[in-house]
Amino acid sequence: MVAMTDLVIISDDGPVRTVRMNRPDKKNALTLDMYDAMAAAIESAPQSPALRCLLIAGTPTGFCAGNDIGDFLKMAAGEGALGAPIIRFLHALARCELPLIAAVQGNAVGVGTTMLMHCDHVLAATDARLSTPFVALGLLPEAGSSLIAPRLMGHARAFSLLVMGKPLSATDARAVGIVNAVVSAAELDAQSLATARDIAALPPESVATARRLMRGSVEEVVARIDEEVEAFRVRLASPEAKAALAAFLNRKR
Ligand code: COA
Repeated sequence: MVAMTDLVIISDDGPVRTVRMNRPDKKNALTLDMYDAMAAAIESAPQSPALRCLLIAGTPTGFCAGNDIGDFLKMAAGEGALGAPIIRFLHALARCELPLIAAVQGNAVGVGTTMLMHCDHVLAATDARLSTPFVALGLLPEAGSSLIAPRLMGHARAFSLLVMGKPLSATDARAVGIVNAVVSAAELDAQSLATARDIAALPPESVATARRLMRGSVEEVVARIDEEVEAFRVRLASPEAKAALAAFLNRKR
C-alpha cells in the first residue's frame, strides 16, 4: 500500500500493518498530511482480510512530539478550528476495529501520549517519556483523553498527567496502566512485532468481540472527542495559547 506522504511509512507484513511516523528531525511532530496518512492506514485496514493487528511506531529519535506547533499557530490564526485530518485521525483511532499496539521510544508528547489511550497493548523502551503539556500551552486534553484517562488511571493521576503536565517515565506509565511492558530500545521493534503476531494468531472474531465489549461505547468516545475539539478551538484562538505556542518556536537553545 502506498502512503500519501513519506513522513509516515506503512508496511504490511503478514497479519500486521505497521504505521511508522517518520519525521525524525522534528521528533515526529505530526503535520496534517501525516494525520491523513495515519487515518487512511487505520481506516483501510479492514479491506485487507489478511490484516489482524495494527502497530503504531516512531523512530529512534522519539515516538511523537505531538501536533506540529507551527501548524497549531496557523490554525490559531484561522480562529482555532483544528484541521480536518486531525479529527479524521482521532475518529479513526476511536472507531478502529483491529487491535492497536504501540511501540514507544523516547518522547511521546501531546497526541503522542493520548493516542496510546486508544491502544490495546503498549510496549515502551526504557527511555520512553510520556507527557501532555496541553494546559501549560493554554490548551486542553484531546483525543478523548478527558474521558479515557480518568477511567484508566483514576482522576487524580489523570489530573497530574493531563492538567498539571507531569511526565511519566516508562515505568511510571506501566504503573498507571498505559504501558504493558518496558523493554530495551534495541529490542522494542522485535518485541512489538512479536506481540502483534501473538495477538494476530488468536481467533480474530473472538478478539474483535471481546475488544468491542471491553472498549465500551465508541459513540461516547467519538462524542467526547468532538466536544474536546470544540473547546480546543476556543483555547487555540486565545491569546494565552498563541503566546505559549510562539514561545516554543522562538525559544533560545
Ligand atoms: N512542532 C514543531 N516542531 C517541533 C515539535 C512540534 N511539536 N517538537 C519538536 N519540534 C522541532 C524543534 O523545533 C526542533 O526543530 P529545529 O531542529 O528546526 O530547531 C526539532 O524538532 C528537534 O526538537 P528539539 O526540541 O531540539 O529536541 P529535544 O530532543 O531537545 O526535545 C521534545 C524533544 C519533544 C521534548 C521537544 O521538542 C518538545 O517539547 N517539543 C514540543 C512538544 C509539544 O509541546 N507538543 C505539543 C503538545 S500539545
